[in-house]
Amino acid sequence: MDITTKKWETMFTEEEIASRIKELGKQIEKDYKDKNLMVVALLRGSFIFCADLVRSIDLPLRVNFMTTSSYGNSEESSGSVKVSSDVTVDIEGYDVLVVDDITDTATTMDFVLKYLKGKNPKSIKSCVLLDKPSRRKVELEADYVGFEVEDKFVVGYGFDCGDYFRNVPYIFNVTDEDR
Ligand code: IMP
Ligand code: MG
Repeated sequence: MDITTKKWETMFTEEEIASRIKELGKQIEKDYKDKNLMVVALLRGSFIFCADLVRSIDLPLRVNFMTTSSYGNSEESSGSVKVSSDVTVDIEGYDVLVVDDITDTATTMDFVLKYLKGKNPKSIKSCVLLDKPSRRKVELEADYVGFEVEDKFVVGYGFDCGDYFRNVPYIFNVTDEDR
């Protein structure tokens, strides 16, 4: 589908996103004072969110990245996730915060949390910008959630459609209506 010919409906503006991320950052700052924070961001969807989130956390922290892939179509996890690029440092003893763009079916986050637990972090929690609770296949709530959304396909601010539009600075939904 060529989404540029369709009407876009803004779901979260740049200002709304920025202000919610500041709140999340302050909460994380409070919870991780005196801890040894290691942020592990899941590529590619969370790269913009992570960049803004870590800049709203005024604490010493390390950042690392992981890429997972799932079989099936790109818009939905199929249930079988694999690591296509692992963290590049030893996370043992760190208080790890896994950052992703969204918990949809939650298959990805469930897999990553279990996988990283195997590397003996001191603690592990999760943070997502969006949460689509209606789509769960695995019972899991992220520890920090930006916004809850209904079952709509979202694009922009890191969220892609066919690997494009990640650079759109706000989050939108594509309607059936033509422009
Ligand atoms: P999961 O179903 O919770 O495992 O989510 C897997 C991945 O699907 C997320 O990390 C996103 O990359 C992608 N995804 C889920 N919902 C959307 C959406 O509405 N727009 C764009 N990508 C999505
Ligand atoms: Mg993703």
